[in-house]
Amino acid sequence: MEGGLEGVVAAETVLSDVDGAAGRLIIRGQPLEQLAGRPAEAVAHLLFAGFFDGLPDEAALRAALGAARERVFGHVAYADAEIVALPPTDGVRALLARLRDGEDLEAALDLLAAPAVFAPALLRLRAGGRPVEPDAGLGQAADMLRMLDGAAPAAAKAAALDTYLVTVSDHGLNASTFAARVVASTRAGLASSALAAISALKGPLHGGAPGPVLDMLDAIGEPARAEDWLAEALDRGERLMGFGHRIYRVRDPRADALKGAVRALAAAGAIDPQRLALAEAVEAAALAILRRRKPDRPLDTNVEFYTALLLEALGFPRDAFTAVFATGRMAGWIAHAREQAVGGRLIRPQSRYVGPRPQQAA
Ligand code: ACO
Repeated sequence: MEGGLEGVVAAETVLSDVDGAAGRLIIRGQPLEQLAGRPAEAVAHLLFAGFFDGLPDEAALRAALGAARERVFGHVAYADAEIVALPPTDGVRALLARLRDGEDLEAALDLLAAPAVFAPALLRLRAGGRPVEPDAGLGQAADMLRMLDGAAPAAAKAAALDTYLVTVSDHGLNASTFAARVVASTRAGLASSALAAISALKGPLHGGAPGPVLDMLDAIGEPARAEDWLAEALDRGERLMGFGHRIYRVRDPRADALKGAVRALAAAGAIDPQRLALAEAVEAAALAILRRRKPDRPLDTNVEFYTALLLEALGFPRDAFTAVFATGRMAGWIAHAREQAVGGRLIRPQSRYVGPRPQQAA
């Protein structure tokens, strides 16, 4: 048996397909390249279709999600000093645990709204400010940035966040989605599934990588230092954050979608051109050194590399990046949890015992 369940098919899904050899991601029949550029609500609508009674059309779903943001904002009052002091993703998880465990559309929309509301509110509280109430008339991306900054975002920034939320909305049976499906298979409810998923997401081998990508860029400082710095990191046995993937053996298509969004932000003057030049130089140097050092293991750029630049430009602090990731992936977690609950069996694999037998242990 391969470690980490590599190669094991553990679920059938209509939601997304990750083709690791071709570097293609399909979400409900549509290639990522076609979806990136659409609002987050459009992809949530696509993912939810068929899994909820009374799912309205896309425009009505946008309004219902706005109303859900207003509903969940009430939970921000329970962010006490301990919760505010937690890393933002843990703070979001703590508030998420207050949500009702249902299987209905309202429970789903509350979950979908929650990280978009809780993350900015916790960041403002941490900075000594007051949370900004949601504006139900806005789209989720624009409202999240508004709740972060206290002012309506530039259109280019809202568009970039939409691209990000769509790009990370679903991705096959990744670790957090698998965690969500395991919990959903017990019929525990959507909030329980989402809590399991966000707990899996926060690890640095999954959704916790983009913060460390920026730490790496800061440590490298200038393009000329990239090669030596990366070589030394590999000599120390470290992994280069933002590179490598369990499924992709070629470039992660999400990296290109996000690189496009980052370049659009740069064109709108929202990213320092030097920062972008450094990132591109580090990416090129990392790909070259990984090719030399790991010739048998194709290691290419993954989604987290340009996520880091994009979320930094949007004004999120790096320790909140995983909470923003959860805002996008929540749509996928909910859809997978519903798919599992509606059509799946209890997930209960077996382990192979390799410990001592009673007579040997004596
Ligand atoms: N830098 C250096 N070497 C690497 C990297 C990396 N980023 N990724 C894999 N390798 C090497 C491993 O050291 C190992 O080498 P070895 O066989 O000589 O020991 C080989 O490639 C295979 O590694 P595994 O751990 O078996 O690969 P796995 O499929 O389990 O790992 C993972 C995938 C966890 C993403 C890995 O590539 C990694 O740690 N990357 C850095 C962290 C990161 O960017 N995470 C975000 C992933 S995207 C997402 O989850 C949203």
